Amino acid sequence: MKKFIKIALFWAFLLSSLSASGYVNAVKVPGNVAHLTPESKAWLSASFSEVTLYPQTALKFFDKTANEMNANNKAKKVKIKALYDGSNLAFLIQWNDATKSVQTKESTTVYGDGFAFQFPQNYSDAKELPYIGMGSAKRAVIVHLAKATEGVYEPNGEADVYHQVNKGNQNLYNEELKAYEQAVAQKMQKQYQRDFISEGFRSMTQIRDNANQAFMQMSYKDGFWRGVLSRTLKDTYLDLSKGAFPVAIAVWDGEKKNRDGLKLLSSWIPVKLVGISGGDKLIEDLTTPVSGDVANGEKLAVENCAACHHYKDQKIAPDFMAPNLSNIGGYATKEYIKESIENPNAVVVPGYNIKAHPNSAWYSLDEQGQRVSTMPAYDWMDEKSKNDLVAFFSSMKEEE
Ligand code: HEC
Repeated sequence: MKKFIKIALFWAFLLSSLSASGYVNAVKVPGNVAHLTPESKAWLSASFSEVTLYPQTALKFFDKTANEMNANNKAKKVKIKALYDGSNLAFLIQWNDATKSVQTKESTTVYGDGFAFQFPQNYSDAKELPYIGMGSAKRAVIVHLAKATEGVYEPNGEADVYHQVNKGNQNLYNEELKAYEQAVAQKMQKQYQRDFISEGFRSMTQIRDNANQAFMQMSYKDGFWRGVLSRTLKDTYLDLSKGAFPVAIAVWDGEKKNRDGLKLLSSWIPVKLVGISGGDKLIEDLTTPVSGDVANGEKLAVENCAACHHYKDQKIAPDFMAPNLSNIGGYATKEYIKESIENPNAVVVPGYNIKAHPNSAWYSLDEQGQRVSTMPAYDWMDEKSKNDLVAFFSSMKEEE
């Protein structure tokens, strides 16, 4: 009975502590949060916030099956909480996934479930946050990625090539083969974790200099994944100690062949370090709803944008003329949408796949070899029309 009451109290606590949507309060706790696991008791000090992730529709994959499996993806709600101590920050993310998918070393077509946290290197101005896809030119992001995997072989450091060779090429039998397989298993890293700095697709650079101390873990139980990211508040790449900062979250479903750009993604979500002043302007900018005439925005979109972009039931443009905007309001900020309209060259989203025909690439190259958008700038438009367009496209998200 006592145990039952304890459990009931625990759940009552969890439910009552569910706080506002789209906004995360990081709570300061005594002790060290650098190596928390999804099960750590310390999480009871913070409450869950609900965050909605949307299918990234901008990029099409060069994989017909994967595209078909994900064609009808809708929004997904996940729960996030955050803690910090004097020098470290930790996030817990919880999301439901009916199937546990784990990447194995035996197959190259089985994909693992995974999650990522992304932080902009510079977030002093909400109007100039990086493109959430993977950062953008001169607007770098730091990405922490974890994937469910049976084991990843890491020859680095040891420069051990012998154990990396396929066992079928080793001419080993019986006991010798067993010993070889054991040695390989021991050298496998059970948790797949990578830290990147990125200024856009194809510019992902893995951080290997240890200046960035991050730790990730994920565990699956009863249809839910729980993942933890802990990292230093401040390092040579990133300073998150200034009161508030934005974070973007992504989740991959291995069962649906999700990988890379095929995922569910949040917009920039403000995180407040409770007890540290600062960052109010950022929070205000990121949480103030868009004002504008949605109906007029939709009319303007048909006149100005539908010739190139697909969104909602608008599909008159040829495929791959431009990114699909059906979920742009879900994972892009209103500032980003406005910037896209006024100055498409500020962030140039890459073409849909490596086989894109040059005539339908989403960018051309200028004299300096820089990518420039093939989208015309609408800087001639009056302020009200632009705001109405932003209001309309901010409402473009396919809810659950
Ligand atoms: C001539 C074709 C064309 C027209 C017309 C056009 N766009 Fe674009 N748009 C593109 C292309 C190509 C890209 C991808 C390259 C880039 O990032 O600029 C793009 C990118 C975007 C993006 C960024 C998408 C993402 O996933 O990050 C937004 C937002 C956008 N356009 C909005 C609009 C709006 C709003 C209009 C109408 C006012 C419009 N576009 C008109 C071709 C067009």
